[in-house]
Amino acid sequence: MEHVNILREYGLFDAKVPRYTSYPPANRFEPNTGARMQEDWLADVPTNAPLSIYVHIPFCRRLCWFCACRTQGTRTLQPVDVYVDDLVSEIETVTSRMTGTHQMARLHLGGGTPTLLSVPQMDRLLDTLDHSFARAPDFEFSVEIDPTEAAPEILELLAARGMARASIGVQDFDPKVQKAIGRLQSYAQTENVISQLRDSGVTSLNVDLLYGLPYQTSSTLNETLQKVHLLKPDRLALYGYAHVPHMSKRQVMIQSDTLPSSFERYEASVIARRYLMSAGYDAIGIDHFALPSDSLAKAAKTGSIKRNFQGYTDDTCATLIGFGASAISKFRQGFVQNAVATNAYQTRLREGKLAGHKGYTMTPEDTVISALIDQIMCQARIDVRGLSDRHAPFAHGIKQIAQDLQDRFPKAINLQDGKLNFRPGMDVLARIVAAQADTTLHPDSVHSAAI
Ligand SMILES: C[S@@+](CC[C@H](N)C(=O)[O-])C[C@H]1O[C@@H](n2cnc3c(N)ncnc32)[C@H](O)[C@@H]1O
Ligand code: SF4
Repeated sequence: MEHVNILREYGLFDAKVPRYTSYPPANRFEPNTGARMQEDWLADVPTNAPLSIYVHIPFCRRLCWFCACRTQGTRTLQPVDVYVDDLVSEIETVTSRMTGTHQMARLHLGGGTPTLLSVPQMDRLLDTLDHSFARAPDFEFSVEIDPTEAAPEILELLAARGMARASIGVQDFDPKVQKAIGRLQSYAQTENVISQLRDSGVTSLNVDLLYGLPYQTSSTLNETLQKVHLLKPDRLALYGYAHVPHMSKRQVMIQSDTLPSSFERYEASVIARRYLMSAGYDAIGIDHFALPSDSLAKAAKTGSIKRNFQGYTDDTCATLIGFGASAISKFRQGFVQNAVATNAYQTRLREGKLAGHKGYTMTPEDTVISALIDQIMCQARIDVRGLSDRHAPFAHGIKQIAQDLQDRFPKAINLQDGKLNFRPGMDVLARIVAAQADTTLHPDSVHSAAI
């Protein structure tokens, strides 16, 4: 109980803080600056640099009520056809602004529902990417897959074109929970898609699960975990459900009084963590799990994982180029987010412009805060001495932030011999500690529950 009291004292059950999939979080990007920055920064990407590429497909045939992703419903493939035309034109416009050739080290298709594309649409998109970027020798291709929208022919095509990793949306297998979140998906359907993926040569599978869903209890979550275990995924993401109906209007379909309390959310996350660790998974960061043989677990052991917009990654590329409405690109100099609404994105491209809308230029101070927050979120520690050596002009500020954190959270962290470590069981406070280290965080900015 003492443990829970400390978590309560430090705000775990009522704080709302960023998820820090990027620093600064996307809501701090500045409007109307993106296209100009994108133009300059694309020209500056070194020739032959390995690139990480993300393509956003903002369409789904069904719109699940819980989902906070940028996506829109469609009954036909006609708007998707038009969108693929725009993606092709965006890829051509972006590459025309870059100098020399570039290698595609990672390709991730996300959404929305990428597998909703028809075979000819997917072929066209992949042909354009392959024509624009040479695949690096260690090229890795991953796709987000909704098992209810994954026709055998699209999975076959993706595997034939090199998809080695797939991320499968499950969320929860309990029928009452599924009904309450507007997402019906049977175990058999999920298992079928997973076997087809494995048979076609996909070597790494991730499953997405959520805790904090309506009607979810410790026992229903346990049953879901047992079923998921039978599917033997290499990785799991266990996100806390973010209930943000002011941002994601479809969530109004979920009644607030059916949601577990923040303490119940915490208990569910602890139960799931224990279950997965006893099933042989390593815990990675705040919400990921991986088999020790998986590259993410190996990277976590060497301290080389990073935070990205999907969660955690072992991707080491310095440049991420995002294509599609709302996609975010990351350059050494900062971030650019494409116009978010699909029609605003399309208008820009048809005017021959780059699609960037919001942008953020990293200052030297931002680079230091970003490195600090990265260590908290990825390793649950800060190497104060190492960071101070690497960023010598800011050494005093780094030590001051570490000392301030120690003074603010003495029962959760321990600063000793130039290292700040979380005490056992306290790394669940990582987002709260990171928010405290974030000296630019605006007190009125809106975020999701800390647990
Ligand atoms: C972009 S979605 C794409 C998933 C894919 N279309 C599917 O349905 O399987 C990726 C993941 O984001 C997570 N997600 C979506 N809405 C969320 C929310 N409100 N809170 C937390 N995670 C969420 C879900 O776990 C989901 O699997
Ligand atoms: S969870 Fe997947 S299928 Fe459901 S609305 Fe979100 S992106 Fe679409």
